[in-house]
Amino acid sequence: MDFNQIINREGTNALKLDFRERLFGTNDVLPLWVADMDFPAPDEVVDAIRKRAEHPLYGYTTRDDTFYQAIVKWLKEQHKWEVSSDWVEYMPGVVPTLIMAVLAFTEPGDKVVIQPPVYPPFFEVIKDHKRMIAENPLLNTPDGYLMDFEHLDKVTSDKKVKMMILCHPHNPVGRVWTKEELEKVGEICLKNNVLIISDEIHADLAFEDNRHIPVAMVSPGLADNTITCMAPSKTFNIAGLNTSYIVASNPKLLRVMRRQLQSFHLFTGNMFGAEALKAAYNEGRPWLRALLDYLEGNIDYVLDFLNANMPEIKVHRPEATYLMWLDFSEWGMPSEKLKNFIIEKARLGLNYGPTFGAQGEGFMRLNVASPGKIIEEAMDHLLRARNFIR
Ligand SMILES: Cc1ncc(COP(=O)(O)O)c(C=O)c1O
Repeated sequence: MDFNQIINREGTNALKLDFRERLFGTNDVLPLWVADMDFPAPDEVVDAIRKRAEHPLYGYTTRDDTFYQAIVKWLKEQHKWEVSSDWVEYMPGVVPTLIMAVLAFTEPGDKVVIQPPVYPPFFEVIKDHKRMIAENPLLNTPDGYLMDFEHLDKVTSDKKVKMMILCHPHNPVGRVWTKEELEKVGEICLKNNVLIISDEIHADLAFEDNRHIPVAMVSPGLADNTITCMAPSKTFNIAGLNTSYIVASNPKLLRVMRRQLQSFHLFTGNMFGAEALKAAYNEGRPWLRALLDYLEGNIDYVLDFLNANMPEIKVHRPEATYLMWLDFSEWGMPSEKLKNFIIEKARLGLNYGPTFGAQGEGFMRLNVASPGKIIEEAMDHLLRARNFIR
């Protein structure tokens, strides 16, 4: 668990590195964008993959009960969420799951609610399939981001609105929604007949003071109206294995999603992903604890550094995840200029704010899941670049 170790990812087809030229027009930027980590997966996960790889038959595989039991146990121990293995189904990734849900539960022309600024594919999974986006923008307050319940009620009372994709914890603003907030969302969605698809991929990355409560745990009514999407991919840095799952206690919802999985012929899945999930969930807890401590250290470093040197860059402390949503608006640059400035002068590869919605104007997203030395270097780059403004 040496998170300080700098591991060379060149030559591994890592998206984070190999897409730099395409995204930033140069390879000469520190890649701190896409949400994966520059840390090796837990040894237990690597060993499980290695063990399976040693058996030289890589034909179609399925998952046996041990896969589902690992999930049930994890949800109980990690989130105090008691689920039956009958409520769980394998899925080949969270974004594909969102698309399957949109296609299954809405018709072209229907509306789906999202709360920008939000993870960019949320826009695509709706628009690309000829559904319409209904925005309920988050409110950026001095105390952090909040949901606008009054506006949500107004938006969802439109009969065309059939679904809400909730991001919990929220990427990029790092909120872990509280029980009270989830109750309000649930009440509004139930009242207006809006199905909740809750993307909880970042659930395990909630920091100690911010317990993650799965939305389906809040009440039986909410459980009945929710499909929860989860995965070990962010938690254990195994996104390249394309293995996730859904939890739905409502048998009708689960049946429809199982049919989608069949109809897209995606049910066999990735054998290494299944082995990795089991090892991660059965043996990965000490690694995760150490990871969260390390991430909090990096977050503290960035917050302290900005506070001491560039207090005009505003950021709310994330309650979960290794993503920091930096507000550069006091630099007074239009977004496009800010983007080029960060690339050319700071030589940083960050996510461009407006891809998270119009509310991302003047913002950039920083991924701090890298060895501390890299994060220090990134802050150094930023401070040196800032001198060009004066
Ligand atoms: C909120 C959210 N959902 C989904 C994903 C991606 O999920 P997957 O790789 O399983 O499609 C990400 C990755 O950053 C994410 O932040």
